[in-house]
Amino acid sequence: RIVYLNGDYLPEEEAKISIFDRSFLMADGVYEVTSVLDGKLIDFAGHAKRLERSLAELDMQKPDAFDDLLEIHRELVRRNDINEGMIYLQVSRGSAGDRDFVYPDASVKPTLVLFTQNKPGLADNPKAREGFKIISIEDQRWGRRDIKTTQLLYPSMGKMMAKAAGCDDAWLVEDGHVTEGTSNNAYIVKGDTIITRHLSNDILHGITRAAVLRFAREAQMKVEERAFTIKEAQQADEAFVTSASTFVMPVVEIDGAAIGSGAPGPVAGRLRDIYLEESR
Ligand code: PDD
Repeated sequence: RIVYLNGDYLPEEEAKISIFDRSFLMADGVYEVTSVLDGKLIDFAGHAKRLERSLAELDMQKPDAFDDLLEIHRELVRRNDINEGMIYLQVSRGSAGDRDFVYPDASVKPTLVLFTQNKPGLADNPKAREGFKIISIEDQRWGRRDIKTTQLLYPSMGKMMAKAAGCDDAWLVEDGHVTEGTSNNAYIVKGDTIITRHLSNDILHGITRAAVLRFAREAQMKVEERAFTIKEAQQADEAFVTSASTFVMPVVEIDGAAIGSGAPGPVAGRLRDIYLEESR
């Protein structure tokens, strides 16, 4: 794989960063995942805008190459011959050559890393025909989930808990209400209404979420942006999640209770089809 590190395209084994890099020592980094279908980037502009906001919220410098990010993404797709997959991008506050809680001064440049993940069959994922089984767990993340930081230990623990329970993923619950999935936004469908949590600092403002809600409204579907409980989800007609890597993924079970018929629902299926068609 050819990866990108601070201005250079390198074989992955030659791309090296300092042990003092703050992403390594402090999880002082932000990231984006942009999917690729038919060799084309999906929603690059949305991801770049969210990255810019994450950096600003953390007083992190923009990498010098910020305005070249589209070209860098495209170059990596070309060099790695990606037809379907993802591009991972990470910016960290860089390395001041020692460990210190205080941010380094502006002379320390951020570290910019990008790499590709080749995933043939991403769009035709067989999981979309089966649906996800979900467990619910307490949301123990920090309070700024609107910033896409690399502090992903708790989401990783959530996926491990789900796996141990024979499930695909976990939904995070705070004050009795679902915030989102470990790496996706969460939805339920009741009658003809799609319900998903409103935007705030409590969830990541998903780029896929924005697109899917726009397509839903354009297709005259009703959308309610509000919090819901696990109980309400278990009694819903359908449930699903969205993210750059799963697009629209039906959910068929939550904490052992079948959702609706227990099979992927028509609204999720239709939104997945629309999303894939409109994104290509
Ligand atoms: N995760 N919520 C969380 C906590 C996420 O980590 C993600 C994305 C989303 C969906 O956002 P988007 O639609 O912009 O991908 C929601 C990425 C895919 C990841 O961590 O791999």
